[in-house]
Amino acid sequence: MSVILWHPWPGIENMLNALRRELPNMEIRDWNDKGDKADVNYAVVWNPPKGELKTFPNLKCVFSMFAGIEHMMQDPELPDVPISHLIDKALTHGMTEYVVHNVLLYHRRRSEFEEQQKQKLWKSLSIAPASDRHVGIMGFGALGSDAARVLLALNFNIAAWSRTPKSMTGVTSFHGSEGLSVFLAQTEILVCLLPLTPATAGILNHDLFSKLPKGAYLINAGRGGSQVEDDILSALNSGQLAGASLDVFETEPLPKDHPFWSHSKVTITPHNASHTDVDSSARTIAANIIGFEAGKPVHGLVDRKRGY
Ligand code: NDP
Ligand code: OXD
Repeated sequence: MSVILWHPWPGIENMLNALRRELPNMEIRDWNDKGDKADVNYAVVWNPPKGELKTFPNLKCVFSMFAGIEHMMQDPELPDVPISHLIDKALTHGMTEYVVHNVLLYHRRRSEFEEQQKQKLWKSLSIAPASDRHVGIMGFGALGSDAARVLLALNFNIAAWSRTPKSMTGVTSFHGSEGLSVFLAQTEILVCLLPLTPATAGILNHDLFSKLPKGAYLINAGRGGSQVEDDILSALNSGQLAGASLDVFETEPLPKDHPFWSHSKVTITPHNASHTDVDSSARTIAANIIGFEAGKPVHGLVDRKRGY
């Protein structure tokens, strides 16, 4: 029995070693290793080329090294086996840090103090209690719910928007298109942690921004395909949005001539809000494979119809 690892992963050697350590009884192969494809039961992948996965006739399950699997969903020949997207402690905690950091920058009026410092201006600005600050999280899965947990501990007022209703103490849950307008109307800091699917493509657009209170902030670490960048620029320039922290973009890397780079109200990170930690994710994926072999349900199972 073999596990095959798709190759252009930047930490390929480290990941091969970590999987070998975690799964000592299995053969762990790089995609380019010679060997019989029929031996391979599991694939651990990062955006494999379309059509490649179907060349393994005895594949039982595919594990993504990423949380987002929109690329894989575009493979018309994706084999009919369970697909698992990465849900991993280190990835989740990294994202929570990114979200909390950016919420606090806006909540604590960081850019205004920076401006005052440039002018050597000693002037106190009022800062509302966190309990009066309304943070709305779009996408309340593994990542959104963990960010909420920490923001709640800091006393922020949290609302969630998801496809189906959620129940977390202290969080007001909204769902579906019918819940979206009410959710937006009370959101001062909007955090997007949605997967990219046909239903979420372009959702961060002019119409959505117009439903937020004037001067709201946007934090998007989901996918760039969910945002309409011209609409973000217009909303920033009109003051409808007071600032945007963007980790993901329609085109990545963000083109050098993109107006976001020099926009005073935009904070850019290069799809770096969180990342796959080799050791932690190898442990998570290995545990998932061992569980699968023992007949347990796959953790992080993707629903192909929903696209996430
Ligand atoms: P999950 O699948 O655990 O959660 C997805 C959430 O989005 C769920 O709450 C789901 O609702 C909600 N959702 C999906 N479609 C809709 C819709 N049409 N309307 C309303 N809600 C919807 O994913 P994760 O939390 O693990 O990850 C989320 C995304 O974050 C990833 O897909 C990836 O794109 C991105 N990501 C970005 C990273 C970065 O570094 N920038 C790092 C890691 C992930 P429901 O619960 O009702 O199904
Ligand atoms: C992602 C990830 O999906 O880093 O962006 O896992």
